Amino acid sequence: MDWKDGYVADIEYSNGFYPELGPSALNFVLLMNGFLPVPLDRQFTYCELGCGLGESLNLFAACHPEGRFHAIDFNREHIQAASGIAERARLSNATFWEADFADLGDLPLPEFDFITLHGVYSWVSNEKRKDIVEFIKRRLKPGGVVYNGYNSMPGWAANAPLRQLMTSYADTQSAPLLERIERSVGFVERLKELDLSYFNANPSAGAFFEYISPLSRNYLAHEFFNRDWTLFYHADVVKDFASADLMFACSARFIDFRDSLRFSKPMQQILNEITDPVMRETVKDFASNQQFRTDIFTWDRLRLTANEQKELLLASRYSLLIPRETFAFEATFPIGRKQLRPDLYDPIISALEERAHSLDELLLRPEIASLGAVNILEALIVLSAAEYIKPAVDPSPESIESAWRYNTSIMERAFCTTDHQFLASPVLQGGIRLSWPQMLLLICELTKGGEPETFLWEYLRANDYKLEKEGVTLESGDEIRAEINLMIEKFNTQQLPYLQKLGVA
Ligand SMILES: C[S@@+](CC[C@H](N)C(=O)[O-])C[C@H]1O[C@@H](n2cnc3c(N)ncnc32)[C@H](O)[C@@H]1O
Repeated sequence: MDWKDGYVADIEYSNGFYPELGPSALNFVLLMNGFLPVPLDRQFTYCELGCGLGESLNLFAACHPEGRFHAIDFNREHIQAASGIAERARLSNATFWEADFADLGDLPLPEFDFITLHGVYSWVSNEKRKDIVEFIKRRLKPGGVVYNGYNSMPGWAANAPLRQLMTSYADTQSAPLLERIERSVGFVERLKELDLSYFNANPSAGAFFEYISPLSRNYLAHEFFNRDWTLFYHADVVKDFASADLMFACSARFIDFRDSLRFSKPMQQILNEITDPVMRETVKDFASNQQFRTDIFTWDRLRLTANEQKELLLASRYSLLIPRETFAFEATFPIGRKQLRPDLYDPIISALEERAHSLDELLLRPEIASLGAVNILEALIVLSAAEYIKPAVDPSPESIESAWRYNTSIMERAFCTTDHQFLASPVLQGGIRLSWPQMLLLICELTKGGEPETFLWEYLRANDYKLEKEGVTLESGDEIRAEINLMIEKFNTQQLPYLQKLGVA
């Protein structure tokens, strides 16, 4: 059997970590958009619906030992894998439930401050969506926060027929699903070689197919080969959630907070003329053509007064995520490349290089205070949107300890799988991406595993892992050794100090 209620059930999904789902990431966008964040320094509750292999949930549970995390998925292998990681990392605050969304009412769950679902709403039937909304209605605390990440229109308008083509072809084949997926990818590859009017009329579809065709077949199975695959306009989702008394608050993607980084001036002017929030979002979707929306909904969440928001913004801290020497006073946004004024950005970056600072602390430095609080806040917003900095906390000893246990269990797995790419930072209360070789170098450093060149060389060879440089696979021993030494040099001078600062090493 391939499907359970129309959803691919006998193929495991791939690991995935989604930073926007994190309690502190959600709080940060809520605060920026003028909503009171959920206090995270006391016990709070969090639930993820359709958690897949549970990578996001486990990592967040590790960063927030004070939170109580629950996750639900009806795929037994997913729940076993996710609980296995929680057990190995001794995360007593993460509970995984094997259950169908239709049976959520039967589970002994508390009320939640956060309910999240990523990559679920578009992929299940209308009935299951009703179950989800009903669950949220019953189990979300007053003031609770819901995250829903779903496939959106019109971003899919040109590419959606590809999914129809692939699934229709797969339906004509009799073989296990993974094999049918392989065949349908091969079939579209053949069609693409020909002068098809569809590809000519929709050039983005060709590029999109090039992008998806090498992806893991397990990923493609869950992404495209379910019975249900519904693309939503924002207004439809707003209507669904209104039945649970929820209103749209903001997007979870930080960059979406600043129209000036996404849209041209004439576009911003049109947006500013639109007072209806749903219409504004709809027009933004037409302007950006994004395929995936990350909506945050709330019920009765307190709106901050300007003074309350200012107080909280002054207290929020930021950590630098890039090596100081790589900061080139520019950043690329959807609107294009933006030059960042050295007189404003240099002192901020220099201070953040020393250590994480709150806006308050930055303003205590005379060379920064003289630039004006409004300019500093705007610079912090631009740096956050560019992901050069992230909100950071002074981590509790408990969170340092539990992130360490989680990271150790992930690094132990790195000996036999390249699947995990994120470690937990108790400072960022989120994940840090490391390539597999970088993870091996960290293991070598932490376990005093000997000479890093030999350590890395042996593991790469034993796992037949191919190193690449500028998209080309390195074949000769000399090239591989030179690349390994470059990696070690970069790891020691740039990555390790940064991992230490973020509480990962
Ligand atoms: C596309 S995956 C997304 C997984 C994860 N949220 C992520 O983004 O990596 C959708 C998940 O929802 C689960 N799912 C689908 N229908 C479900 C149902 N009716 N009840 C419970 N889980 C379901 C699937 O097993 C799968 O793990």
